[in-house]
Amino acid sequence: MQPAAQAATSGVSDRPSRTLAPLRVMRPIRINRCICSRVLFSDLKEDAAAHGVDTLEALQAVREFGVNCRRCHPYVRRMLQDGTTEFNEILQDER
Ligand code: FES
Repeated sequence: MQPAAQAATSGVSDRPSRTLAPLRVMRPIRINRCICSRVLFSDLKEDAAAHGVDTLEALQAVREFGVNCRRCHPYVRRMLQDGTTEFNEILQDER
């Protein structure tokens, strides 16, 4: 059997498909909490203000967070520096 005839009977074509994959709409990231401890950065900000703390370690003495994967640490440090509680970018710990 010829390849074209075989393709016609098998349903498989040698020609490239003209069907495009559907576009995936990427939603912007939104990071606003310690996921492991389920604590919002906005709540941590209030705790920091209420207790007058300005370091991550001092804040951990006030509220339990950031003891598992620690990926929230750079966000909390930034929050303590400039007050940001919601992030749209991945921050890496610089330590
Ligand atoms: S996200 Fe904070 S410890 Fe994992």
